[in-house]
Amino acid sequence: MYGVESCVHPEYRGRGVGSLLMDARFDVLRRLNLRGLVAGSIPMDYHKVAASMTIEDYVCEVVEGKRFDTNLSKQLHKGFQAHNLIPEYIYDPRSLNWAVAIVWDNPAYEPGKVAEAPLFKVPRLYRAALKSVTRNPDGAAGS
Ligand SMILES: CC(C)(COP(=O)(O)OP(=O)(O)OC[C@H]1O[C@@H](n2cnc3c(N)ncnc32)[C@H](O)[C@@H]1OP(=O)(O)O)[C@@H](O)C(=O)NCCC(=O)NCCS
Repeated sequence: MYGVESCVHPEYRGRGVGSLLMDARFDVLRRLNLRGLVAGSIPMDYHKVAASMTIEDYVCEVVEGKRFDTNLSKQLHKGFQAHNLIPEYIYDPRSLNWAVAIVWDNPAYEPGKVAEAPLFKVPRLYRAALKSVTRNPDGAAGS
């Protein structure tokens, strides 16, 4: 799974909300028996030291726990692993457009196992509408 974006209002950061959002994502992976989650993490405090250190050194220090990054450190704390750097990931002066590809491996993943249930139940009304849809010979849906 690719994690596009998660964001907590600045006034509510550091209170466990982001952690719950990450846990919810991990739960989806477990339920769907997916191998892992890949995301682009913005090292958002890099701009503070960018004049004096390379992004490689910065990320190494964050990974080693010698330096705290408001975003990346929290994700590493939740079990993500830093995989590689991504230049020009997104326009963001805080990271000088860098991102770190981070990966979370689902420890419960079982190769070949089919997920037990769909993630969402389709509402009954919508199911009925789906049944009434017939297909044209060329494969295009029609009613
Ligand atoms: C990244 C973001 C979503 C985190 O949300 P948050 O609510 O501040 O995060 P939390 O307070 O739940 O902290 C997350 C985890 O990091 C841990 N943590 C907090 N401070 C830490 C520190 N100094 N060192 C290590 N871990 C720390 C927390 O303990 C928590 O883990 P736990 O639940 O196991 O205790 C939030 O900072 C944000 O919205 N950032 C801007 C948008 C963004 O860049 N999103 C990510 C794009 S990839």
